[in-house]
Amino acid sequence: MKSLITFIFSLTSFFFCVSLFPEPGAAAAHNDGVYIVYMGAPASLKGSLKDDHAQLLDSLLKRKQDALIHNYKNGFSGFAAHLSAEEARSIAEKPGVVSVFPDPVFQLHTTRSWDFLKYETSVMIESNPSSDSNSMDAIIGILDTGIWPESESFNDKTMGPIPLRWNGTCASGQDSSTFNCNKKIIGARSYGAGEIKSRTPRDMMGHGTHVASTAAGVEVKDVSYYGLAAGTAKGGSPVSRLAIYQVFSSQNGSHGSTVLAAFDDAIADGVDVLSLSFGSSSFLEQEFINDPIALGAFHAVQNGITVVCSAGNDGPSPGSVVNSAPWILTVAASTIDRVFESDVVLGNNKVIKGTGINFANIQNSPVYPIIYAKSATKSGVDENATRNCEPNSMDQEIIKGKIVVCDNEDSLYPQRNKQDEVKKLGGIGVILIDDELRGVAFNFGTFPMTVISSKDGAKVLSYINSTKNPVATILPTTAPTNYKPAPTIAFFSSRGPSTIPKNILKANPSVLFHGTLFLPKLILIKLYQMGCMSQPDIAALGVNILAAWIGNDTVQTLKGKDPPLYNVLSGTSMACPHVSGIAAAVKSRNPTWSPSAIRSAIMTTIEELKMQI
Ligand SMILES: *[C@@H]1O[C@H](CO)[C@@H](O)[C@H](O)[C@H]1NC(C)=O
Ligand SMILES: *[C@@H]1O[C@H](CO)[C@@H](O)[C@H](O)[C@H]1NC(C)=O
Ligand SMILES: *[C@@H]1O[C@H](CO)[C@@H](O)[C@H](O)[C@H]1NC(C)=O
Ligand SMILES: *[C@@H]1O[C@H](CO)[C@@H](O)[C@H](O)[C@H]1NC(C)=O
Ligand SMILES: *[C@@H]1O[C@H](CO)[C@@H](O)[C@H](O)[C@H]1NC(C)=O
Repeated sequence: MKSLITFIFSLTSFFFCVSLFPEPGAAAAHNDGVYIVYMGAPASLKGSLKDDHAQLLDSLLKRKQDALIHNYKNGFSGFAAHLSAEEARSIAEKPGVVSVFPDPVFQLHTTRSWDFLKYETSVMIESNPSSDSNSMDAIIGILDTGIWPESESFNDKTMGPIPLRWNGTCASGQDSSTFNCNKKIIGARSYGAGEIKSRTPRDMMGHGTHVASTAAGVEVKDVSYYGLAAGTAKGGSPVSRLAIYQVFSSQNGSHGSTVLAAFDDAIADGVDVLSLSFGSSSFLEQEFINDPIALGAFHAVQNGITVVCSAGNDGPSPGSVVNSAPWILTVAASTIDRVFESDVVLGNNKVIKGTGINFANIQNSPVYPIIYAKSATKSGVDENATRNCEPNSMDQEIIKGKIVVCDNEDSLYPQRNKQDEVKKLGGIGVILIDDELRGVAFNFGTFPMTVISSKDGAKVLSYINSTKNPVATILPTTAPTNYKPAPTIAFFSSRGPSTIPKNILKANPSVLFHGTLFLPKLILIKLYQMGCMSQPDIAALGVNILAAWIGNDTVQTLKGKDPPLYNVLSGTSMACPHVSGIAAAVKSRNPTWSPSAIRSAIMTTIEELKMQI
C-alpha cells in the first residue's frame, strides 16, 4: 500500500509539472464574454509575483469598473471577469497568468439531464448500524443546489459542538428568518447573482438536499417515497458535518467561475472533503488547465482536502468519463439489489416484469385492450415515428381506451413526451420497450406506465398477434429486494478512459468486489486495470437512491397527498456522495491521512479498511 500511495503522489506531481503549468499565454479567446484568469498558487505564497494579481486587477478595473465577477485569493490566485476576446488574449500574456479561458457551464449529474425531474425516480438510503462515537469531526463541503435545512436528515440532536477549527459562515441572506444552520449544517454560502444579502442557500430543486443527506444525513426511521422503498434513511457518515456551497440556483447550470469561487471559500473555511455531483458533458470537457473543476480540485487537494466527483451520465460509450484529473476521486454509478417493479399482466395471464415508479390505479386483472403503437399509424406518417409513439404520429381513434406498446429507438423524444402523447389521445397506459432504461426506475406519477426489455417486448407483441382481442393491465409499483444481478455498472454511467489527456486510464474494473465497509448495503466495486475497457476510480450506488428531499416540491406530489420528504433519484450524482461520506469517515478515523492516502485506501483496500476502522 505504501508504494501505491507514493505512486499516486508522484503521479500527481508529474501532472503538476507537466500539464498543469505549461508555458503561459494559451488563451482560447474568440468571443467577448466572461473569462476565467487563472494565476496558480495563492498570491500570498508567490513572493515576488505577489503583486501580479493585484496589478492586473487594478489595471482591469481602471478600464472597466463593472467587469469583475469573482476574485480568487484564498486557495489559489485569479479572477473571473467580463472581457473582450482582445483583452483576454492580452491578459494571457501578462506575468503570473497561467491560463485564460471562457467560463464553462456545468450540469448536474442526475438522469435529469436526459429528462425532466418530474419523470425521474430515486430514493433510499439503507440503515447503518456502525457506531462512530470515537471519531473526530470531519466536514464535508457539498457544492450543489443548496439544502433544505428543516429535513429530519439534518437534525443535530446527536451532534457535539461545532469544531473550533471551522472558519466558515452561515450566510442565509434573504432567508435569514427561516434558514438556520445548526450543529449538522455548520456552514452555508450561496453564489447566485446580485448582492450576497439577497441570496439564499435554500434548495429549490432537491438535488443538493438529496446529495447532502446521502453523504452525511443522520438516521431517520420509517421513510419512503409514498410507501415505496420504506426503511431507515442514513448517510455515509452520519457523524460528519455539512458545509453547503450553493452553486446551482436554477436548471440553467452553474458557471465554472462560480464553482471556482466555492472552491476558494471551501479551502479557507477548512472542509475535509468536497463532493461535486456535476460536471461538463463529455464532449465539452477541457484540458485540466482550462477546467475549473480540475483546477479548484487541484488546490483543494494541495490543502489536504479530498475531492470526490461524479463521473458523468454519458455512458455507456468509452471515453465518456469527466472530472477525470488524477487528483480527483471519480465515481461511477452501480445498481442496487432493489428494483421498482411495475409488471404487465397479459390476457393469457402471463406476467411480464417491468420497471418504473407509478401509482397506477387501474384494475389488476387484464381487461384493457392492448395495441402496438405501429398499428395506429396515421396516413402520411413514417411508421417508425408511430411505433416510437412520437407526438402527432398516432391515430386517436385507435389509441383511445387502450394500453399502448411503444418502442424507444428514436433519440428525438424522451419517454416523457411519449407518456404525454398517449395520455393526450386518451390511452390508458404505456408499455415502453427499452433495454437500457429498464435498469433505472423513472417516475411516471399516477399514470400506468412501465418499461420492459426487448426480449419481453417480443413476447408481448406476439401475444397481441395471437388473439383477436388482446387485453392486459399494468400493476402499480412494488419495490422488491434481492434483485439479481446486482451490483452492475449502470448503463448511463460514464466510462473511461479519460480523453484528457489520453494517457490517464481512470482505473478499470475487472473484479466485482463486494466489500461492505461500514455501510451495509453500500456495495463498492473494486476497480482494476483491464485492457482498454476502463472506468472511473470506483463505483457506488447510483440507481434508484432514496434520500432527503425539499419540503415543498409540488411537482413530485401525488394528488391529495403532502409533498414527499424523501425521493428517489438516479445518476452518478447519487453515487458520488456515498463515496464522499466514506472519505469523511476514513478521514475522521485517520486525521493525518492525505487525500492521496484516503483515495488510494478507498480504491485498493476496502477489506483492510473494514478491519482498521
Ligand atoms: C435560464 O435560461 C433562460 C434561457 O437562457 C433564461 O431566460 C432564464 O432567465 C434563465 N433563468 C435563470 C434563473 O437564470
Ligand atoms: C482558519 O482561521 C485561522 C485563524 O484565522 C487560521 O489560522 C487558519 O489557517 C484558518 N484555516 C484555514 C483552513 O484557512
Ligand atoms: C425505421 O427503423 C428501422 C429500424 O431501426 C431502420 O432500419 C429504418 O431505416 C427506419 N426507417 C426510416 C424511414 O427511418
Ligand atoms: C404480427 O403480425 C404482423 C402482421 O401479420 C407481422 O408483420 C408481425 O411480424 C407480427 N409480429 C410478431 C411479433 O409476431
Ligand atoms: C418552496 O419554498 C421556498 C422558500 O420558502 C419558496 O421560495 C419556493 O417558491 C417554494 N417552492 C414551491 C414549489 O412552493
